[in-house]
Amino acid sequence: MLGGKRILLIIGGGIAAFKSLDLIRRLRERGAEVTPVLTRAAEEFVTPLSVAALAGHKVYRDLFDLTEEAEMGHIELSRSADLIVVAPATADLMAKMANGLADDLASTLLLATDTRVLVAPAMNVRMYDHPASVRNRARLAGDGILFVGPNEGTMACGEFGPGRMSEPLEIVAAIEAALRDGPLKGRRILVTSGPTHEPIDPVRYIANRSSGAQGTAIASALSGLGADVIFVTGPADVPPPEGVQVVKVQTAAQMLAAVEDALPVDAAIFAAAVADWRVASEAGQKIKKVAGALPVLEFAENPDILATVSQKTTGRPGLVVGFAAETTDVVAHATAKRARKGCDWIVANDVSPATGIMGGTENAVTLISDAGAEDWPRMTKDQVARRLADRIAETLTA
Ligand code: CTP
Repeated sequence: MLGGKRILLIIGGGIAAFKSLDLIRRLRERGAEVTPVLTRAAEEFVTPLSVAALAGHKVYRDLFDLTEEAEMGHIELSRSADLIVVAPATADLMAKMANGLADDLASTLLLATDTRVLVAPAMNVRMYDHPASVRNRARLAGDGILFVGPNEGTMACGEFGPGRMSEPLEIVAAIEAALRDGPLKGRRILVTSGPTHEPIDPVRYIANRSSGAQGTAIASALSGLGADVIFVTGPADVPPPEGVQVVKVQTAAQMLAAVEDALPVDAAIFAAAVADWRVASEAGQKIKKVAGALPVLEFAENPDILATVSQKTTGRPGLVVGFAAETTDVVAHATAKRARKGCDWIVANDVSPATGIMGGTENAVTLISDAGAEDWPRMTKDQVARRLADRIAETLTA
């Protein structure tokens, strides 16, 4: 699957660097050519000799090594790969990337490249959760950097939480997703997914029952056809797919901002179950119980993200797909919704509790377009996603 693909693997200085030796082996088994780059700190964890032996390739270590510059300059090195993979990516390396620093070979390559970059973070949980790291990751995601992991678990330092580097086979899957050829290669597609959470006060919120399963399956299917997917997700039950650009949000307002940031795109699929209303004025402190008095919540309307994007006069995606979750008169409501919002297609479904669709693994949808209403048989959400992705590919490449 990776036959002939050239991977520039930057190994950062963390204990997880030992897993990168296995990653090299797995990549080579699949036919990839691996060019390794070690940071100074990485050499404390793995030796250049073992990396070179496993990669079957010279290891690059020093920006100012003139022999290396004579052989291949760092600019060329950074651009000669199909994909740059940073594994493990330490907090320090991510901070350098986010701020455009270039004080060693690894960071210089990352700044000089025009190739896609996949990052596998690995660090102590406190470091990962630190506002600076959260900020750096969000900035990198905004720059189009892809992420795989980190996983949650016990760490070498004895603490528990997110920060463990993904396992080599998970990283391989993300690399394959990022390099996949297909009819949608080079197309940028936005997918929204999951519920939104609208805060009442610092501890309470309003939400809905969306699991994010259908939107996640669609993002995965589009990525499987080679699309560059920007996945804007509310707090979903299912993890986001590997190999797509993930932007996590909580509220409808944040989702709209993330969607605007992602434009322009070739197509946009709005699978999120966005809350229609938010609490007009979120309380800054926890609302206390007062004997005999019930709190009254006043609502304000949220922006309609699908309608906003559908009705853009400049920069409208070529294809805009909305969803309609209905409990009665599905086709009539969905047809009216398509006209009202101005989108090209509506994927309509009946989410009455008896159908078991909301939160379940299956879906029965009707695709509504200019051509009319087309009923699809009940199938798994993955199958709906693949059929929809195929239809999107046919339309964009027609
Ligand atoms: N949607 C959106 N922004 C909102 C509300 C909905 O982008 N604030 C999108 C959803 O992602 C979905 C479509 O609009 O693609 C329809 O959502 P739905 O909740 O069924 O429609 P509503 O406009 O909320 O209509 P109603 O609740 O009256 O059925």
